[in-house]
Amino acid sequence: MTSKIPAYDDSYNENGSDGIEEANDGYRFRMLNGLMMPPYVTPVRFEQARSAQTREADISFCSFPKSGSTWLSQILLLLVHGGTNPDEGTLRQHMIWMETSWPFPKSLDVVESMESPRLFKSHMPIEMAVGGGPGKQPAKYIYIARNPKDVCVSYFHFETEKAWAGNFKCSWDDWFERFISGQVQRGSWFDHVIGWQQTNHRNLLLLTYEGLLLDFDQEVIKIAKFLEIDLPENMLRQIDRNSSFETMKNSEFANMHEVEQLNTFYRKGKIGSWKDHFSESQNRRMDALIEERLADVSFDFIYEAG
Ligand code: A3P
Repeated sequence: MTSKIPAYDDSYNENGSDGIEEANDGYRFRMLNGLMMPPYVTPVRFEQARSAQTREADISFCSFPKSGSTWLSQILLLLVHGGTNPDEGTLRQHMIWMETSWPFPKSLDVVESMESPRLFKSHMPIEMAVGGGPGKQPAKYIYIARNPKDVCVSYFHFETEKAWAGNFKCSWDDWFERFISGQVQRGSWFDHVIGWQQTNHRNLLLLTYEGLLLDFDQEVIKIAKFLEIDLPENMLRQIDRNSSFETMKNSEFANMHEVEQLNTFYRKGKIGSWKDHFSESQNRRMDALIEERLADVSFDFIYEAG
């Protein structure tokens, strides 16, 4: 086991607390390109991420927070590694998360010296994507989206009481207002998803969290085809086992216990936990937004487990 990485602290940033703001309710963030970002997404890191040069054999995946990106990262690592995890390191250490100063920042030199396929992770909207995004870079890009009701709930649990958000404790009702008005780190879920979906490039694959949950095999076969990776049946079965919720939650490789405050990362891993939180009126308001903003979006979001 690698030594524990302390919880986020402003001293991880090249300019400490400079540029970090705190809202009236104690929520901490920094503004970049007019959007709320976590304090550990610094201007210097962001510039490095935006100007990154990828290679054709690299993979660059992205999502709004809490949309299944860690699950996808595990599936991708297994795909490029023959179905099992590398012996060294932990899941997070194998990812290049260029826009962040914490918890595992990698210098440009290190990133450039790594062999492909390199796995770039990001939570940026399309206009702030790694290397400028698909169409501008040779890497294969994958974007995963999840229904906004479950994202809102998952994000509520994730952000409250975390150091980077100021050990922010807010009520569910207040969080809901923040979320639907885009006043959360990474901005509006709607803008994020719509922006990526409208980007129609051959080197971009769009996925949903619900799709992976409901038809894992078909979705992983789709990913392997897109990445031009051979996927024999026994490897697919290994990937299924090694990326299951229970396996990831219980394995030292993926459980994230190496980072303080992330040991509660795996929560439910299901469709529909919004039902435990949304009031009827909140549900009506979210449905109205979905109807208004997602009318032309092709993602097939599913809100209830069958
Ligand atoms: P919940 O909070 O609803 O449980 P991200 O990695 O983008 O932050 O997304 C986190 C969400 O994905 C959490 O959702 C988490 O539990 C869920 N998740 C993580 N690993 C998973 C897996 N192997 N299978 C299903 N869901 C998973």
